[in-house]
Amino acid sequence: MDKLIGILTSGGDTPGLNAAIRAVGKTLIHHGNYKLIGFLDGYRGMLENRFIELDDAALSGILTRGGTILGSSRDKPHKMPIGGKVLDMTDVLVENYHSNHLSGLVCLGGGGTQKNSYRLAQAGLNVLTLPKTIDNDIVKTDVSFGYDTAMMIATEAVDRLHSTAHSHHRIIILETMGHKVGWIALGSGLAGGADVILLPEIQYDEKKIADAILRRSRNGKKFSIIVIAEGAISKTMAKKIENEKDKDAKEKILKNRTVELATELERLTRRETRVTILGYVQRGGTPTPYDRVLSTSLGSHCAQEIFKERWGNMMAIQNNRIVTVPLEEVAGPVKYIPQDHYLLDCARDLGISLGE
Ligand code: F6P
Repeated sequence: MDKLIGILTSGGDTPGLNAAIRAVGKTLIHHGNYKLIGFLDGYRGMLENRFIELDDAALSGILTRGGTILGSSRDKPHKMPIGGKVLDMTDVLVENYHSNHLSGLVCLGGGGTQKNSYRLAQAGLNVLTLPKTIDNDIVKTDVSFGYDTAMMIATEAVDRLHSTAHSHHRIIILETMGHKVGWIALGSGLAGGADVILLPEIQYDEKKIADAILRRSRNGKKFSIIVIAEGAISKTMAKKIENEKDKDAKEKILKNRTVELATELERLTRRETRVTILGYVQRGGTPTPYDRVLSTSLGSHCAQEIFKERWGNMMAIQNNRIVTVPLEEVAGPVKYIPQDHYLLDCARDLGISLGE
């Protein structure tokens, strides 16, 4: 009898998810003796036992499609909002896994999904995961799929902002996504030739940024491009947050920080300043060739691990090799930009201000 594998996509969607689903499915089907079903809308679909069969026809024509054909949600098995309450529904997911006679479950997701998948592995399920997120913040993998596409989109935005900033002699601030890390901002800032790059890993000082902009002005450059990661904070904000106990008050301090930075820079430099918040466009649309190849190779390797019945691991890329990493090592930590990262040195070498 054929063995049945379940697959789901959880957390924020990312270009490359469909390419990865396709690679897992095609490798399983090509090998024979395996069938794949896809739970809809992440762990929510597994809870409600909503799934579709992913046969050869369902897997065709999806390589280049953005989003996820399975739908996604941010629901966690142990914290499910149900009828106004938040309940631990892990047991029901475990029950559905067994009632569907699954031999294994593949979860595609970011840091949160790695943690939730590890919990399911601890509950006795055969689990494997793939690292997806535009934020690139999953540890033990050099890169996660989706990041390259997001970088490309953000870089195009920096390129386009250059010409309009130049025409109007303005400061333009581009806010990128990235949650608590600055990989998208750093990558696209360098690729697009930003003058200032602000990251969560380095708290900024508005005066230092203004100094860098005024220095440019003195050298005849009347415009400046700033790329700021959504999680970046100033030294002043960091101090305020440290002394604040209330969660809502903390959020209030952090709200609209990019717009506030623009106001402050306008005051300090007397230059017109505009803000562009790039948002969800970074997650949309077709994956880059790099992301397609990465998703595909991680997906086929995952199927190979299924054949060998080696469970409890995340597929990863390290030093140009696809490897497996135990889930317990990836569930929890966040991959921040290390303070000694060569790209930070590179930015400083070029005279790009990091707001320090
Ligand atoms: O993790 C991907 C990401 O796009 C982050 O960059 C961003 O902070 C977050 O998701 C947005 O989450 P949501 O889709 O829940 O609004």
